[in-house]
Amino acid sequence: MNVGEKVTVEKILAMKGKRKITVLTAYDYTTAKVCDTAGIDILLVGDSAGMVMLGYDRTTMVTMDEMLLFCRAVANAKPRAMVVADMPFMSYQVSTKDAVYNACRFVKESGADAVKIEGGMEVSDKVRAIVNAGIPVMGHIGLKPQTALLWQGYKVQGKSKDTAINLIEDALALQEAGAFCIVLEQVTYEVAEIITNRLKIPTIGIGSGLACDGQVLVIHDLLGLYNNIPRFAKRYANIYDVMLNAVISYKEDVINCRFPSKEHEFHMSEQEYNELLRELKMKHDHE
Ligand code: KIV
Repeated sequence: MNVGEKVTVEKILAMKGKRKITVLTAYDYTTAKVCDTAGIDILLVGDSAGMVMLGYDRTTMVTMDEMLLFCRAVANAKPRAMVVADMPFMSYQVSTKDAVYNACRFVKESGADAVKIEGGMEVSDKVRAIVNAGIPVMGHIGLKPQTALLWQGYKVQGKSKDTAINLIEDALALQEAGAFCIVLEQVTYEVAEIITNRLKIPTIGIGSGLACDGQVLVIHDLLGLYNNIPRFAKRYANIYDVMLNAVISYKEDVINCRFPSKEHEFHMSEQEYNELLRELKMKHDHE
């Protein structure tokens, strides 16, 4: 258990330019415990949960109720890390009222410390309203998985001068609206560096290079638990194979009577057992 003081917005802001901020996704209690013990700063309950935990083929399908449950599980670990809940598709698009209401649900019903919302200038009013309701907001620009598939697909953002300028303006609008940090997903190195240097708040990169103030990865990519690992992710372990081998060993042990063995058994006392046998025999003889 990491016993340090809770990571707050103030602490995240103070890290800019001093040390890189570490962010990982988490969707359950046990993973949150591991990440927190390792000293990760922010646990992001990403809507990627829809894909890696529920098997949906896109993030837009995950619902508010599903996200509340994942977030509750992470918050139950009582981590030192800040818990950020990702606002799923349809939880903020329709109205500012929806955005504030659903952000409040994350704090009230699942113990989130902050929320993340995808989008730039077009969501800045919603960011401002959520912040005014007292909830810290993490922005998310560049590749926006909730809507990318509906338009151009998963593509690197900020390759041209015009798209770069849009991204810079989006980042400034989010900062102005009160976001405390911004995820830059698959943004070119050059644009990520310009945004990072222009902003007072930290940038958290995913596929956006080393210039960002922090980095985030989907935990399944890092652990090697999910098949489609993006080019920008680094696999630090191959837990899929470890799990597979463990499950195969279990299956083989059961089939071949190697599990359970003596150390996994529980026994009656010899006296109790003998009395049981006597009583069963008596009952049997009377029938
Ligand atoms: O849903 C998610 O996991 C995310 C990260 C990839 C930033 O939004």
